[in-house]
Amino acid sequence: MEEFPALVTRAFELARAAGFALTREDAGAGASSACLPGVGRFLAVLAAGCVGGRIAELGTGTGVGAAWIADAMPADCTLVTVEVEERFAAVARELLSGDARVEVLTGEAADVVPARGPFDLVFSDAGAHGVDPVGLLRIGGRVVMDDLTPRAALPPGSPLLADDPKRRAFFGDRRLVSTEVVLPDLRNSLLVGTRAR
Ligand SMILES: C[S@@+](CC[C@H](N)C(=O)[O-])C[C@H]1O[C@@H](n2cnc3c(N)ncnc32)[C@H](O)[C@@H]1O
Repeated sequence: MEEFPALVTRAFELARAAGFALTREDAGAGASSACLPGVGRFLAVLAAGCVGGRIAELGTGTGVGAAWIADAMPADCTLVTVEVEERFAAVARELLSGDARVEVLTGEAADVVPARGPFDLVFSDAGAHGVDPVGLLRIGGRVVMDDLTPRAALPPGSPLLADDPKRRAFFGDRRLVSTEVVLPDLRNSLLVGTRAR
Protein backbone atom coordinates (compact mmCIF):
# COMPACT_ATOMS: atom_id res chain seq x y z
CA MET A 1 0.00 0.00 0.00
CA GLU A 2 1.26 3.48 -0.91
CA GLU A 3 2.60 5.49 2.02
CA PHE A 4 2.15 9.24 2.40
CA PRO A 5 3.74 11.87 4.65
CA ALA A 6 1.64 12.45 7.79
CA LEU A 7 0.78 16.00 6.69
CA VAL A 8 -0.52 14.73 3.34
CA THR A 9 -2.60 12.02 5.03
CA ARG A 10 -4.12 14.73 7.24
CA ALA A 11 -4.77 16.85 4.12
CA PHE A 12 -6.67 13.94 2.52
CA GLU A 13 -8.80 13.57 5.68
CA LEU A 14 -9.66 17.28 5.78
CA ALA A 15 -10.41 17.36 2.04
CA ARG A 16 -12.80 14.42 2.38
CA ALA A 17 -14.51 16.01 5.40
CA ALA A 18 -14.94 19.25 3.45
CA GLY A 19 -16.35 17.42 0.41
CA PHE A 20 -13.38 18.42 -1.78
CA ALA A 21 -12.79 15.67 -4.35
CA LEU A 22 -9.46 13.83 -4.38
CA THR A 23 -9.69 12.76 -8.04
CA ARG A 24 -10.95 14.27 -11.27
CA GLU A 25 -13.40 11.33 -11.61
CA ASP A 26 -14.92 12.02 -8.17
CA ALA A 27 -15.16 15.74 -8.91
CA GLY A 28 -17.10 15.36 -12.14
CA ALA A 29 -16.94 17.66 -15.15
CA GLY A 30 -15.95 21.22 -14.41
CA ALA A 31 -15.50 20.78 -10.64
CA SER A 32 -12.23 21.17 -8.73
CA SER A 33 -10.21 18.33 -7.26
CA ALA A 34 -6.99 17.94 -5.29
CA CYS A 35 -3.72 17.11 -7.00
CA LEU A 36 -3.07 13.38 -7.39
CA PRO A 37 -0.30 11.66 -5.42
CA GLY A 38 1.85 11.45 -8.55
CA VAL A 39 1.65 15.22 -8.93
CA GLY A 40 2.25 15.75 -5.22
CA ARG A 41 5.39 13.62 -5.32
CA PHE A 42 6.64 15.55 -8.34
CA LEU A 43 6.01 18.87 -6.56
CA ALA A 44 7.82 17.53 -3.49
CA VAL A 45 10.90 16.71 -5.57
CA LEU A 46 11.04 20.28 -6.90
CA ALA A 47 10.15 21.89 -3.55
CA ALA A 48 12.95 20.01 -1.79
CA GLY A 49 15.43 21.82 -4.04
CA CYS A 50 14.18 25.32 -3.22
CA VAL A 51 16.87 26.11 -0.65
CA GLY A 52 16.26 29.63 0.69
CA GLY A 53 13.55 29.94 -1.91
CA ARG A 54 9.99 31.08 -2.40
CA ILE A 55 7.16 28.94 -3.71
CA ALA A 56 3.68 29.97 -4.88
CA GLU A 57 0.59 27.88 -5.44
CA LEU A 58 -2.29 29.37 -7.44
CA GLY A 59 -5.46 27.59 -6.29
CA THR A 60 -5.06 26.02 -2.83
CA GLY A 61 -8.24 23.96 -2.78
CA THR A 62 -8.25 22.54 0.75
CA GLY A 63 -4.46 22.19 0.90
CA VAL A 64 -3.41 18.82 -0.54
CA GLY A 65 -0.79 20.24 -2.93
CA ALA A 66 0.37 22.69 -0.26
CA ALA A 67 0.84 19.76 2.14
CA TRP A 68 3.08 17.92 -0.34
CA ILE A 69 5.13 21.08 -0.88
CA ALA A 70 5.37 22.16 2.76
CA ASP A 71 6.36 18.66 3.86
CA ALA A 72 9.26 18.55 1.40
CA MET A 73 10.56 22.11 1.25
CA PRO A 74 13.69 23.13 3.19
CA ALA A 75 13.38 24.89 6.54
CA ASP A 76 14.44 28.23 5.02
CA CYS A 77 11.89 28.15 2.18
CA THR A 78 8.46 29.84 2.18
CA LEU A 79 5.18 28.95 0.49
CA VAL A 80 2.35 31.32 -0.34
CA THR A 81 -0.84 29.69 -1.55
CA VAL A 82 -4.01 31.51 -2.62
CA GLU A 83 -7.59 30.30 -2.86
CA VAL A 84 -10.59 32.33 -3.99
CA GLU A 85 -13.15 30.28 -2.00
CA GLU A 86 -12.94 31.15 1.69
CA ARG A 87 -14.48 27.84 2.83
CA PHE A 88 -11.65 25.93 1.11
CA ALA A 89 -8.93 28.33 2.25
CA ALA A 90 -10.15 27.93 5.85
CA VAL A 91 -9.57 24.17 5.65
CA ALA A 92 -6.04 24.66 4.33
CA ARG A 93 -5.35 27.24 7.04
CA GLU A 94 -6.40 24.74 9.69
CA LEU A 95 -4.10 22.14 8.13
CA LEU A 96 -1.05 24.40 7.85
CA SER A 97 -1.50 26.82 10.76
CA GLY A 98 1.38 25.24 12.68
CA ASP A 99 3.90 26.05 9.95
CA ALA A 100 5.19 29.65 10.04
CA ARG A 101 6.77 29.20 6.59
CA VAL A 102 3.35 28.86 4.95
CA GLU A 103 0.87 31.65 4.19
CA VAL A 104 -2.64 30.68 3.08
CA LEU A 105 -4.39 33.66 1.48
CA THR A 106 -7.99 34.08 0.48
CA GLY A 107 -8.49 36.04 -2.72
CA GLU A 108 -7.91 36.26 -6.44
CA ALA A 109 -4.47 34.96 -7.41
CA ALA A 110 -3.94 37.99 -9.67
CA ASP A 111 -4.51 40.40 -6.77
CA VAL A 112 -2.28 38.89 -4.11
CA VAL A 113 0.51 36.75 -5.61
CA PRO A 114 2.54 38.94 -8.04
CA ALA A 115 3.69 41.39 -5.34
CA ARG A 116 5.19 38.48 -3.38
CA GLY A 117 7.40 37.20 -6.20
CA PRO A 118 9.65 36.39 -7.89
CA PHE A 119 9.36 32.69 -7.13
CA ASP A 120 11.57 29.63 -7.47
CA LEU A 121 8.58 27.36 -8.04
CA VAL A 122 5.00 28.10 -9.11
CA PHE A 123 2.29 25.45 -9.02
CA SER A 124 -0.34 26.93 -11.31
CA ASP A 125 -3.52 25.03 -10.45
CA ALA A 126 -6.41 27.51 -10.55
CA GLY A 127 -7.46 27.28 -14.19
CA ALA A 128 -8.00 30.68 -15.78
CA HIS A 129 -6.82 33.05 -13.06
CA GLY A 130 -5.60 36.14 -14.91
CA VAL A 131 -1.98 35.62 -13.87
CA ASP A 132 1.03 34.95 -16.09
CA PRO A 133 2.63 32.14 -14.03
CA VAL A 134 5.90 32.30 -15.97
CA GLY A 135 6.13 36.02 -15.26
CA LEU A 136 6.10 35.17 -11.54
CA LEU A 137 9.32 33.14 -11.83
CA ARG A 138 12.88 34.23 -11.34
CA ILE A 139 15.22 33.08 -14.10
CA GLY A 140 15.87 29.39 -13.33
CA GLY A 141 12.53 29.06 -11.53
CA ARG A 142 10.07 26.30 -12.42
CA VAL A 143 6.38 26.19 -13.23
CA VAL A 144 4.11 23.14 -12.97
CA MET A 145 0.64 22.85 -14.51
CA ASP A 146 -1.69 20.00 -13.64
CA ASP A 147 -4.75 18.22 -15.02
CA LEU A 148 -3.74 17.01 -18.45
CA THR A 149 -4.54 13.67 -20.07
CA PRO A 150 -1.59 12.16 -21.96
CA ARG A 151 -2.17 12.06 -25.70
CA ALA A 152 -1.88 8.25 -25.66
CA ALA A 153 -4.73 8.07 -23.14
CA LEU A 154 -7.11 10.40 -25.02
CA PRO A 155 -10.13 8.69 -26.61
CA PRO A 156 -10.13 8.41 -30.41
CA GLY A 157 -11.71 11.50 -31.92
CA SER A 158 -10.85 13.78 -29.00
CA PRO A 159 -10.43 17.32 -30.33
CA LEU A 160 -7.36 17.63 -28.10
CA LEU A 161 -5.53 15.23 -30.42
CA ALA A 162 -5.68 17.86 -33.17
CA ASP A 163 -5.11 20.93 -31.00
CA ASP A 164 -4.83 21.46 -27.25
CA PRO A 165 -4.78 25.17 -26.34
CA LYS A 166 -3.18 24.46 -22.95
CA ARG A 167 -0.22 22.57 -24.44
CA ARG A 168 0.04 25.02 -27.35
CA ALA A 169 0.32 28.03 -25.01
CA PHE A 170 2.76 26.30 -22.67
CA PHE A 171 5.10 24.88 -25.31
CA GLY A 172 4.87 28.09 -27.32
CA ASP A 173 6.20 30.17 -24.44
CA ARG A 174 9.71 31.21 -25.56
CA ARG A 175 10.75 31.99 -21.97
CA LEU A 176 10.50 28.32 -21.00
CA VAL A 177 12.44 25.11 -21.49
CA SER A 178 9.52 22.73 -21.08
CA THR A 179 8.22 19.19 -21.30
CA GLU A 180 5.22 17.03 -20.42
CA VAL A 181 5.58 14.45 -17.64
CA VAL A 182 3.25 11.44 -17.71
CA LEU A 183 2.39 10.17 -14.23
CA PRO A 184 2.98 6.52 -13.26
CA ASP A 185 -0.77 5.78 -13.66
CA LEU A 186 -0.33 6.60 -17.41
CA ARG A 187 -3.73 8.37 -17.32
CA ASN A 188 -2.65 11.81 -16.12
CA SER A 189 0.15 14.18 -16.97
CA LEU A 190 1.51 17.58 -16.11
CA LEU A 191 3.47 20.30 -17.83
CA VAL A 192 6.73 21.50 -16.34
CA GLY A 193 9.02 24.28 -17.47
CA THR A 194 12.11 26.13 -16.33
CA ARG A 195 12.27 29.86 -17.02
CA ALA A 196 15.40 30.40 -19.08
CA ARG A 197 14.78 34.02 -20.20
C1 LIG B 1 -7.69 22.16 -8.92
S1 LIG B 1 -8.18 23.03 -7.48
C2 LIG B 1 -6.71 23.23 -6.56
C3 LIG B 1 -6.19 21.98 -5.94
C4 LIG B 1 -4.95 22.18 -5.11
N1 LIG B 1 -3.91 22.90 -5.81
C5 LIG B 1 -4.39 20.85 -4.64
O1 LIG B 1 -3.31 20.48 -5.09
O2 LIG B 1 -5.07 20.18 -3.87
C6 LIG B 1 -8.37 24.66 -8.14
C7 LIG B 1 -8.73 25.70 -7.07
O3 LIG B 1 -8.48 26.99 -7.60
C8 LIG B 1 -9.40 27.89 -7.04
N2 LIG B 1 -9.42 29.09 -7.91
C9 LIG B 1 -10.05 29.23 -9.10
N3 LIG B 1 -9.82 30.46 -9.61
C10 LIG B 1 -9.00 31.10 -8.72
C11 LIG B 1 -8.41 32.40 -8.69
N4 LIG B 1 -8.62 33.27 -9.68
N5 LIG B 1 -7.63 32.72 -7.64
C12 LIG B 1 -7.43 31.83 -6.62
N6 LIG B 1 -7.98 30.58 -6.60
C13 LIG B 1 -8.76 30.22 -7.62
C14 LIG B 1 -10.69 27.07 -7.01
O4 LIG B 1 -11.62 27.60 -6.09
C15 LIG B 1 -10.19 25.68 -6.65
O5 LIG B 1 -10.29 25.45 -5.26
